[in-house]
Amino acid sequence: MQTIIITGASSGIGRATALYFYERGWNVIATMRQPEKSDLPKLDRLHCFKLDVNDQQTIDTTIQQTIEAFGTIDVLVNNAGFGTVGAFEYASEEQVLQQFQTNVFGLMRLTRSVLPHLRQRRQGIIINVSSVGGRITFPFYSLYHSTKWAIEGFSESLQYELAPFGIKVRLIEPGAIKTDFYHRSQMLLVRPDLKVYDDYQTKVLNNVAEVEKNAPPPQIVAQTIFQAANDKTDRLRYSVGDQVPLLLLLNRLLPHSWFRNIISNILEKDSLA
Ligand SMILES: NC(=O)c1ccc[n+]([C@@H]2O[C@H](COP(=O)([O-])OP(=O)(O)OC[C@H]3O[C@@H](n4cnc5c(N)ncnc54)[C@H](OP(=O)(O)O)[C@@H]3O)[C@@H](O)[C@H]2O)c1
Repeated sequence: MQTIIITGASSGIGRATALYFYERGWNVIATMRQPEKSDLPKLDRLHCFKLDVNDQQTIDTTIQQTIEAFGTIDVLVNNAGFGTVGAFEYASEEQVLQQFQTNVFGLMRLTRSVLPHLRQRRQGIIINVSSVGGRITFPFYSLYHSTKWAIEGFSESLQYELAPFGIKVRLIEPGAIKTDFYHRSQMLLVRPDLKVYDDYQTKVLNNVAEVEKNAPPPQIVAQTIFQAANDKTDRLRYSVGDQVPLLLLLNRLLPHSWFRNIISNILEKDSLA
């Protein structure tokens, strides 16, 4: 029986992934900052452990407890993350650092901590939840995008050096998915003393809200993560979500100015209301 550790499993994609793997017979370690608030059932093969990706102690304890409970770690899903949204000029130094701390350095911290175990066993899969926003960009997400583009480069390079040890690296690239990401996991940038971007920003965020309204549920990402965990090939990227393959194809084929017009037509249009 295989064992998976998932970060950020309190809600959304992480939670759906924990249940999806459990239902398919895996041992699941669903990690989160506040396990006492989790509504996941406590079961023989499904454990909720406290883990903050910015706290090395909780990472070490989780790895130790996972090995004690199930003997091995087969798959790590680096899913924890949040989105800083708004004009870059509104961001403080601290907000920039916070965005990278969790989305990039947290993911690296977990990866570095699990690697000795995977290397020793000469097998394992590291699945990093990136985003379609790790390949293309939208206005007012510059900080978030830069973390996801960092994850893409990190993962793409890492796959070479881990291949001789039988360890695979995967990237999951979801489009808009209906989760708490657009609500409690969103940090909106505001500067009361500087409002020059506000009108443009409001228009874009209203259009993002429209996209989110019709977004698919997190289970479709859980399904893709399951596919990535069971894939025997060396495939690196798995995109998932409405229009995502089409957008990526257009981005690859079209001159950037044309692609930019497509994004503008979606996110910069005036509301009909
Ligand atoms: N939803 C989308 O449209 C979408 C699209 C592309 C990519 N993604 C990516 O998917 C991943 C999951 O997001 P989601 O959509 O499922 O949103 P979500 O439901 O808000 O989940 C985000 C999770 O990250 C956790 N988290 C945040 N900071 C953490 C930290 N320091 N340590 C541990 N956990 C932390 C949150 O835990 P708490 O409960 O403790 O806050 C929460 O469980 C993120 O990496 C996001 O960038 C989402």
